[in-house]
Amino acid sequence: MSVAHLFTPLRVGSLELRNRIVIAPMCQYSAEQGCATDWHLIHLGQLALSGAALLIIEATAVVPEGRISARDLGLWSDETEAALARTLESIRRWSDIPVAIQLAHAGRKASTNVPWEGGAQIPPGAPHGWQTVAPSAVPFAEGQYPPLALDKASMERTREAFARAAERAARLGLDAVQIHGAHGYLLHQFLSPLSNRREDEYGVSLENRMRFPLEVFDAVRGAFPSEKPVSMRVSGTDWAEGGWNIEETIAFAQALERRGCGAVHVSSGGLTPAQRIPIGPSYQVPLARAVKQAVSIPVVAVGLITEFEQAEAIIGTGDADLVAIARAILYDPRWPWHAAAHFGASVSAPNQYLRSQPPRFRQLFDAAKPAR
Ligand SMILES: Cc1cc2nc3c(=O)[nH]c(=O)nc-3n(C[C@H](O)[C@H](O)[C@H](O)COP(=O)(O)O)c2cc1C
Repeated sequence: MSVAHLFTPLRVGSLELRNRIVIAPMCQYSAEQGCATDWHLIHLGQLALSGAALLIIEATAVVPEGRISARDLGLWSDETEAALARTLESIRRWSDIPVAIQLAHAGRKASTNVPWEGGAQIPPGAPHGWQTVAPSAVPFAEGQYPPLALDKASMERTREAFARAAERAARLGLDAVQIHGAHGYLLHQFLSPLSNRREDEYGVSLENRMRFPLEVFDAVRGAFPSEKPVSMRVSGTDWAEGGWNIEETIAFAQALERRGCGAVHVSSGGLTPAQRIPIGPSYQVPLARAVKQAVSIPVVAVGLITEFEQAEAIIGTGDADLVAIARAILYDPRWPWHAAAHFGASVSAPNQYLRSQPPRFRQLFDAAKPAR
């Protein structure tokens, strides 16, 4: 039997991916002052044993005001770096899964309650709230407290903060960095004409709207070891009239490729409450396919990819090079094991669990690799 496409290896820079399954970044809203807690060890620890090819740590703020909520993970200080170092040290002792981190700034979508407390905006001055910033003083939703428009000096500081966080990521030995350019957060706010109303060299034309996100990419790329990939997560469309669209996404992906971007991770939406999303299985895959047809770097598809044959078809038909799974892997943290069993492929499993291999899947577990 030939190996399923989902279980073929892929090399991205120095990153050796054993299969095509990526764990998408997922905010846990469980940090304290930006520092990882025991929850991160529990959460990332179990996902590190999943058999996926890459684990991407949640949106991690590069400055405190860039957090979605006061409980977000951060990487802006020696304390936040040390907390993540402890988590990673424990994970690496028991798993050799490559680990990436998503570096983020929430812009006008910062300063909110955690989702399980409603996720509403918290105005500046209220407990756990602060003044948000954005390309223009346009709030996400009508009636919200507006962000401050970033001036050039603040943009420079933000770009530097991304670069300093990338240096910290390098010190932590992380295998890759993903820059969060999607879901209506700061960099997407620069890209979309709905949130970017600037009239300087950062607004109006596509070239100008892409300028700051590309500057951030260059700063991060320059601060992270050159052999390790830096990728970008994008929203392929705002799903709204007059918003960011797939043609602009393709131009952005091509500009990123020219600058040495390692991969583009194609999601969608998040910029405006006016979005109308045709939600359903694989609903973002056509966006990934359109980007893939226009670039040669690896493209990651994500969004309601929940079934093994569905994931296999996305890779097998060339819609994308990798699939990222979020909710399905929280629901079933052994999703890659079960997918491998389904296709007669192999995954890496920890020595402690080797005896769990069902007799009918004799080839399922790779010989365990020593911890790094
Ligand atoms: C709990 C949770 C937290 C998330 N946090 C992030 C995040 O930190 N960064 C990000 O880019 N996307 C985030 N997302 C979006 C996911 O990465 C993914 O794109 C989305 O859930 C669609 O994939 P799925 O259908 O496999 O869940 C989050 C999703 C969930 C469910």
